[in-house]
Amino acid sequence: MADAAWSALDTQAAALRRTRLADLFAADPDRVARLSIEASGILFDFSKMRVDSATLSQLGALAGTADLPGWRSRLFAGEIVNQSEGRAATHAAERGTGPTALTTPAAQARAKMHALVEAVRAGAHGDIRHVLHVGIGGSALGPALLLDALGRGDGPEVAVVANIDGVAMEAATRRFDPSKTLLVIVSKTFTTVETMTNAASALAWMRSGGVADPLARCVAVTAAPDRARAYGVSEDRILPFAESVGGRYSLWSAVGVPVALALGWPAFQALLDGAAAMDKHFADAPFARNAPALAAALDVLTYSLLGAESRGVFAYDERLKLLPSYLQQLEMESNGKSVTRDGTPVTRPTAPVTWGGVGTDAQHAVFQLLHQGTREVPVEFLAVIEPGHGLGPAHHRQLLANCFAQGAALMRGRSFEEALALSNGDAALAAAKTFPGDRPSATILLDRLDPATLGALLAFYEHRTFAAAVLLGINPFDQWGVELGKEMAKAVETGGGATLDASTAALMQRALG
Ligand code: F6P
Repeated sequence: MADAAWSALDTQAAALRRTRLADLFAADPDRVARLSIEASGILFDFSKMRVDSATLSQLGALAGTADLPGWRSRLFAGEIVNQSEGRAATHAAERGTGPTALTTPAAQARAKMHALVEAVRAGAHGDIRHVLHVGIGGSALGPALLLDALGRGDGPEVAVVANIDGVAMEAATRRFDPSKTLLVIVSKTFTTVETMTNAASALAWMRSGGVADPLARCVAVTAAPDRARAYGVSEDRILPFAESVGGRYSLWSAVGVPVALALGWPAFQALLDGAAAMDKHFADAPFARNAPALAAALDVLTYSLLGAESRGVFAYDERLKLLPSYLQQLEMESNGKSVTRDGTPVTRPTAPVTWGGVGTDAQHAVFQLLHQGTREVPVEFLAVIEPGHGLGPAHHRQLLANCFAQGAALMRGRSFEEALALSNGDAALAAAKTFPGDRPSATILLDRLDPATLGALLAFYEHRTFAAAVLLGINPFDQWGVELGKEMAKAVETGGGATLDASTAALMQRALG
């Protein structure tokens, strides 16, 4: 069944490759409406992606044969969806979606977090002006994005320190007063070498800054509370979350505590509620009107069938400048896989390389390649209707106009004849001024960037990633690919012996002796 769906899609893809986007628009006056979906204050416009209605219905058939509805139900029900680790993936329960057997323990953990947040904000833990959030990967990228996007609020200033490069820790501690700092150690495993090294340095910094008992100023967020206890963090300041919440899906749990500390509990709750609204949309909307499912299907079409290799994500909003980094982990760590759930090698490309930046800056840097380079890079544009500043309207008008113009220009292009007319008949100049056009993009337009809408947006990306994995038959919830590098880092650091290749051994010898 699945093979038949894939081979029908291969046929469709071959035809689509010969079809220009402009012709798809010309052939279907309802195209924009049919390929646009509104949910939770967000408009998803997929109409500039390379797809037609026949392919769309084949993608719907693939969603059926891959059992997307069944996997979605199993995800929300807390059944095992992460086969290689024998685990459920219960991040949606953290925002109240799912059966009470899952949402009740999540709510209990959240109540502990809530009480601690209120106590810190009320001064019960002393005069806390600064929060040093130490964590890496999923224990840092989500909180960093949220804090950057939503602003500081009225709470303490937060620095997220991830890299083991001490430059990162020094940059944060230089700004902070150790006697007014709360250290938050965030690690699902509570063993990650970067985080534990940074935590030790942060505690030493507090001690040398006159804090007699720095561990008493420390909160631990982890799925391994025993390890936090053994580390010396007192029970009332250990915020646990379930083992079944994956690192890159964890910002809804106590991993998001710096957001609640900085912005207050109502903002954090609104973030969860926004995400829960997107859960409901993903659970209930039919395939063709379901934003995460349709986006995932278009990803499979674009990257696994039509052969594009990377997706450029450009937020035309300074507040979302960390979105590409967050998405890189979410999408590439989840779906950068080469075997299916049962261990069989995949026969098609899986996740594209996700990269990107912020508009309009990127227009003056990387867009040359997007418009005239030899590679077709599908682009995802994001913009927010309500400006995030109080300056005059010229800023935002120009910003949005540029965003929409880029998508239009990528699709329209400029023919050689048009370029010639602009080049005084100079053919070489006209060739340089010719744009192939016909380059696909999608636009995601948010009404405003508040906690609820951002929660819905990030839940959209989580579900899109999951749905793409289901269509491809892969497991989005493990990440064995990061393990070998970790093991080799240990081997390199401790001398490595015979296991090191000659190049690595020479580098090690030159740099570290
Ligand atoms: O190395 C990858 C990874 O395991 C990520 O999946 C995770 O988000 C990150 O490291 C941090 O892990 P932890 O929260 O256990 O410190």
